Formats: sequence, C-alpha cells, structure tokens
Amino acid sequence: MRKPLIAGNWKMFKTYDEVLSYAGDIIQRISDVKDVEILICPPYVYIHPLIEALKDSAVKTGSQNVFWEDSGAFTGEVSAPMIASIGTEYSIVGHSERRQLFGETDETVGRRVHAAFRGSLTPIVCVGETLAEREAGTTFDVVESQVRKGLAGLDADQGASLVIAYEPVWAIGTGKTATPEMAQEVHGFIRKILSDLFGREVSEQIRILYGGSVKGDNIDALMAQSDIDGALVGGASLDPASFERIIRFKR
Ligand code: PGA
Repeated sequence: MRKPLIAGNWKMFKTYDEVLSYAGDIIQRISDVKDVEILICPPYVYIHPLIEALKDSAVKTGSQNVFWEDSGAFTGEVSAPMIASIGTEYSIVGHSERRQLFGETDETVGRRVHAAFRGSLTPIVCVGETLAEREAGTTFDVVESQVRKGLAGLDADQGASLVIAYEPVWAIGTGKTATPEMAQEVHGFIRKILSDLFGREVSEQIRILYGGSVKGDNIDALMAQSDIDGALVGGASLDPASFERIIRFKR
C-alpha cells in the first residue's frame, strides 16, 4: 500500500512572521491525521525555522530545488548534504518553473536526482507537458522522455523510494485542472514506464503525485483514481484552512 503524500510547494511566498504563524495554525488543524504524509517545501531560508516550529508535529519539510554538486565554489547554490543535515527528507526536482524560467533540462534534472540520493534526500521529480505539447498530441512522448532521462542510471532501491509528480504545465496556477480521468491516464502510463525501468514490484511502491490547481473541491475525485497517490499543491497550500481540506481528502 502506498501511503498518500500531500506536499505543499510554497514557491517564493511568505515572510518569516507568516511562516511561524502558519506553522502554529497547521499543527493544530492536522494533529489527528495519521494516514497521510504531510510535507511543506518553503523557500530555503525558512526550512530550518519551519522544522523548529513543526517539531512537535508529523509535518515534514522539503526544499524546492537542490544543486547537483555536493560542495564547492558554486556561489548561491545549496547542496543535498546541506539540506539533509538540517533534518529535511525531500527535495522537489525539475519543477516546470525551473525548467521554463531557469534553464533546467532533463539532463540537469537527472544530475540533481542523483545528487539528492547521494545526500540522503528523496527527490520529488516533476514532469508534465505544456499546452502546446498537449494540443500537438505529444503528451505521452514528452512525459516518457522526461521520466526516462530524469531517472537515468538509478538502481531499483533508489527507484523504490523516489516520488514522481505529474504536473501538466497548463494546469499550474491557472485554475485549470486535468480531469481525474486525464490525470489517471498519464499516471497509469508513468507507472508502466517505472515498471519497465525498475520492475513491476518496485513500480507499485512508487508514489505518483498530481499537481496543477489542486484545491479542496477537486482533491477527492483526483485521489479516487488508482494511480494518484497524493498531490503537489502550490497556491492552495499557502492558506492553512485550504491545505487542511486537501490533506483531509475524502476516501
Ligand atoms: P498550483 O501549483 O497548485 O498553484 O497550480 C502547483 C505547483 O506548481 O506545484
């Protein structure tokens, strides 16, 4: 059984005071939730204070990116051993905003994924097609290439622990969500590729999250799909009440 993972991606939002007040609020709201893994990925500067503020709760923290080298003269970068050393377990890798705005490629995604594993972080590897690619009928080709290149060279043990996030680019921050059936179609397809890469048994253990305008009013139908194992939530994770509603999806 795959434990559902609900992950918040705060992107470049919130001040320090807002982070602390959010932490106090969310702890109260979800203290009884046991069967869902909850993760918040804030900007780097807030990871440590957030860990401190959440220490009496089951809420985990992750980073929004990770550099591909472990240390060295790389001004402005943050490495996996650094992130892991403060008590963080996860790192988002290859988010579409990184791909579109910061020159991320499948090759650099792959390097970051390996760096995450070397540093004992679990990568959440993001894939997804643009609107033009969907309209051109190339969704499956694009997603397959992103998955195969992003995961190249991983062994089955690493495969078993990684997380994939399918986020159609046209659904991110736009209010447009893929229908649950559209999302399931791609999730099922990704699981077949994972089976091809790591074997069927391992592919059944890998969590595949859906992302792109996930909200309280669409999470239940998304989570009802057999290959959707959680969500990567941007905008709706910024408010504790709406994030709580997503965490408490109806089964
Ligand atoms: P959104 O963002 O929920 O605001 O669409 C999702 C994401 O970018 O991970």
